[in-house]
Amino acid sequence: MKAVVYRGPHTVAVEERPDPTVQSPTDAVVRLTTTNICGSDLHMYEGRTSVEEGKVLGHENTGVVEAVGDGVDRIRVGDRVSVPFNIACGTCRNCQTGWTSFCLRANPTEGMDGAAYGYANMGPYDGGQAEFLRVPWADVNLLTLPPGTEHENDFTMLSDVFPTGWHGVELSGFQVGDRVAVFGGGPVGLMAAHSAVIRGASEVFLVDKEPDRLRLAEGFGATAVDFSAGDPVQQLLEATGGRGVDRGVEAVGYQAHDGTGEEHPELVLDNLTQVVRATGGIGVVGVYMPSDPGASSDLAKEGRIPWQYGTFFTKGQSMGTGQAPVKRYNRQLRDLIIAGKANPGAIVSHELPLDQEVEGYQHFDARDEGWTKVLLKP
Ligand SMILES: NC(=O)c1ccc[n+]([C@@H]2O[C@H](COP(=O)([O-])OP(=O)(O)OC[C@H]3O[C@@H](n4cnc5c(N)ncnc54)[C@H](O)[C@@H]3O)[C@@H](O)[C@H]2O)c1
Ligand SMILES: [Zn+2]
Ligand SMILES: [Zn+2]
Repeated sequence: MKAVVYRGPHTVAVEERPDPTVQSPTDAVVRLTTTNICGSDLHMYEGRTSVEEGKVLGHENTGVVEAVGDGVDRIRVGDRVSVPFNIACGTCRNCQTGWTSFCLRANPTEGMDGAAYGYANMGPYDGGQAEFLRVPWADVNLLTLPPGTEHENDFTMLSDVFPTGWHGVELSGFQVGDRVAVFGGGPVGLMAAHSAVIRGASEVFLVDKEPDRLRLAEGFGATAVDFSAGDPVQQLLEATGGRGVDRGVEAVGYQAHDGTGEEHPELVLDNLTQVVRATGGIGVVGVYMPSDPGASSDLAKEGRIPWQYGTFFTKGQSMGTGQAPVKRYNRQLRDLIIAGKANPGAIVSHELPLDQEVEGYQHFDARDEGWTKVLLKP
């Protein structure tokens, strides 16, 4: 089969790989119909992780089941499925309490709980930017979709960014009527804004500097805040009569930058601490790494990021963090799509064949105007 392989910083290539097979009775093999490039892939693409060369990338996968092992009894060959980016055993303590993103059994990496396809530190699993994907514990992990091709570009957001955006809102302690500020207008931030609107926020702000992303946020009913036009904290305080917001969502991660493009890993955490009211909450789904080979300071190289913890404590704020447990939300979000109450596919800008992935990675990585979400169609 053809697969997108990481070959070092800023280098991906389509290479021939053996077709994946059923290796354990609980495996399935999925033929990909859509597989997305994610902002998380860009951390690897830019050489800002410890991912090994030769890894097949891709954790946002949708397709049709091609084969199942003898121990699979819910999922059938021919089922149309969404594959959560987390790989979960379904039976460990964390899986059973709904934290499939911290599965205790799927990731053999020392000190790491939680596994994913095609990702740094997340276990030995190849990704789905390919023609076929092996899915462990298929009955646990696969979400079935209605047969056919309808809503394909909406359903493909169920593997990661829609549940992750929803989770960011959940981690913030959101309640109906809250005012929410989302930092980051990439796919995850846009999905957080979409989620907050669906969930009954009184007002949603989305902070970014890319005009195309800010326009999409407005399309979901959020108020756009351009951080390159002035301090976003001041802009948000002015827009809320000085009160600030009840909830904040961090959808940027450790490569946050200022208006000139210079990186400051603490910038968005500081902004949120300042703009969320006392006793309010912050949901951090933007990724922070335990080590960052490309960081500009020695502290940040070992994942130490000084931020305004003193203000955070003094304001009695709370914070939730981490990879999203996709399974906790994907079934309900699928049904919102089918009912016409959610349209996450509105962020899609490009649909490319697998062998145009280089172009997709380059433009999405440069946040080029109009490249808001890239889908590969194997
Ligand atoms: N927790 C999870 O489960 C999970 C899942 C998927 C992605 N992620 C992470 O979420 C983050 C966002 O992913 P994405 O796909 O939307 O990526 P993206 O890179 O497309 O989006 C990030 C956006 O942040 C903006 N930004 C940069 N600095 C900013 C600042 N100071 N203030 C406001 N906005 C700023 C950029 O302009 C960009 O539009 C990444 O770190 C990604 O790894 C986490
Ligand atoms: Zn992703
Ligand atoms: Zn588990």
